[in-house]
Amino acid sequence: MDIDIFEAYESNVRRYGRSFPTVFKKSLGATIWDESGEPYIDFLVGSGALNYGHNNPDIMAPAIQYLAEKSIVLSLDMYTAAKRDFIEVFVESILKPRGLSYKIQFPGPTGTNANEAALALARKYTGRSSVMAFTNSYHGMSLGSLAVSGSASTRQLGGVARHDVIRVPYENYPNQTFDSASYIDHVLGDPGSGIEKPAAIILEPIQAEGGMNTASAPWLSEIQRICRKHDVVFIVDDIQAGSGRTGDFFSFEFAKIEPDIVCLSKSLSGSGNPLSIVLIRPDMDIWNPGEHSGTFRGNNLAFVTSAAMCTMWSDRQFTTAVERTAVKLQEHLDRLVAKFPKCIEQKRGRGLMAGLKCRSHAVVSRVHDVAFENGLLIESSGPNRDVIKVLPPITISDGELDHGIAILDQALQEKTNGD
Ligand SMILES: Cc1ncc(COP(=O)(O)O)c(C=O)c1O
Repeated sequence: MDIDIFEAYESNVRRYGRSFPTVFKKSLGATIWDESGEPYIDFLVGSGALNYGHNNPDIMAPAIQYLAEKSIVLSLDMYTAAKRDFIEVFVESILKPRGLSYKIQFPGPTGTNANEAALALARKYTGRSSVMAFTNSYHGMSLGSLAVSGSASTRQLGGVARHDVIRVPYENYPNQTFDSASYIDHVLGDPGSGIEKPAAIILEPIQAEGGMNTASAPWLSEIQRICRKHDVVFIVDDIQAGSGRTGDFFSFEFAKIEPDIVCLSKSLSGSGNPLSIVLIRPDMDIWNPGEHSGTFRGNNLAFVTSAAMCTMWSDRQFTTAVERTAVKLQEHLDRLVAKFPKCIEQKRGRGLMAGLKCRSHAVVSRVHDVAFENGLLIESSGPNRDVIKVLPPITISDGELDHGIAILDQALQEKTNGD
């Protein structure tokens, strides 16, 4: 496999190319093939950006037709027919059935663009500058998002100060007995706490990069209650956990909360095309026209594929199949946890957003390499990179899921035998 050109010319910063040193060429569903025709089951799915699998025909067919008709591809934030269709479908298939009412902002196309817009709006709305953010959070690589992210190595990037952030413990941090929600409530109400009232609290209902840590429904409701009590904007970063990943469209549905602002990206287009939105409580939509901007806010191909994806959520057969796959995945992982106690400490995550917390980074590293040799793509997360992320497409077939899990099982077996 010729990878010389990447090593010669692509920046040292490249990561996944090093983890999976082959050249990929084709993909369909949960399978991705390299140039020599070798298949791999994909449990990495563009780090959560391909929840509906690669080249999902129900999503890609309208896009192919759209391109063939010489339709608009880029439109800044002008009105286009594709954007109108997307808004209609998103409102009818996603927001209304969940009793949600939001204005939709189209920021730049990446997740971090959405978070920057959300943080800027919360600051404008409240006139305050600081933001409360959680341990082990990850919100993106631009400066505002870096500032609210937890990981030390991530935050050090940029080489400039990351002001205006109040770091608070996520649920079960540093241990299960510490009640972080009461702590937050207390410091916000105590004039002696030394902690100023923030513009917003930003959180991920499941911290993917932070190690697949899940927040419970009572904790999420409590954070919402605290935000309302102290007049603080509640922002949910649903960039990785949303767009269907947990088995529900939004990862916070199970907690029956209604955040003031929700950020979506990654799998929102359903196709791997970049698309982000910021959902804003209507009375909070105080932007002046053109006040927040970005060239690539009008990715019409992404509107077309996203509309096709959102329509799927009105189909009972589709949602039932996703629920069933989530149960099947969880059963598989319970079995692996019971079978490999020397390698795995616990199962993490929820629905199809799953992880295996391993005993060390060395376990994860070995399992990753053996899995790749045997045809499975997985990645790691967590501050010590000791969690295996298991993110199959939510539309994965039973056969592909069983095959991917069998490769994972075999890799864990080899690691166990090798010790
Ligand atoms: C929760 C969360 N927020 C924000 C981001 C940043 O998204 P992007 O890489 O598209 O800027 C990510 C990316 O992994 C993420 O997982």
